[in-house]
Amino acid sequence: MAYQETKKIMNEIVADLTQAHMLVHQHHWYMLGRGFLNLHPYLDEVMDELSEQQDGVAERLIEINGSPISTYEEVLEKTNIADQVGSWNLSIEDRFQLIVDAYKQLRDDYERGIKISEDEGDDSTNDLLIAYHTAIEKRIWMMSAELGKRPGDGE
Ligand SMILES: [Fe+2]
Repeated sequence: MAYQETKKIMNEIVADLTQAHMLVHQHHWYMLGRGFLNLHPYLDEVMDELSEQQDGVAERLIEINGSPISTYEEVLEKTNIADQVGSWNLSIEDRFQLIVDAYKQLRDDYERGIKISEDEGDDSTNDLLIAYHTAIEKRIWMMSAELGKRPGDGE
């Protein structure tokens, strides 16, 4: 069947985007401390980006005759991002580091997806994944800068 591996990685990306959205929501809710008034609304912007990409990848998957995952059970089975219970006892820096780490997982997912869709000749998916990867890298840079780090620090 056409684009078989592309479809598989796209569902993994949908799982990680869904899980990342929940992670960001958790820190948007549980955040305490200096910077809250700016960083709490900033995370709304981050969640909008994740939702837009989730919908975009899932809809492109349907266009190539795939079936996007659509239950939390499937998300948990496929995601590469750890599930952690919410805690009030984390610094804002720790929270942003966890979000940057999730974004780095998404960056790696997109890099695999870009390679696989290129190998299978699905140019339009390839183009979409490249655009989303670019946005993810920009966000990694900005959130790393907020932490006083370069985007590649810690890798
Ligand atoms: Fe909110």
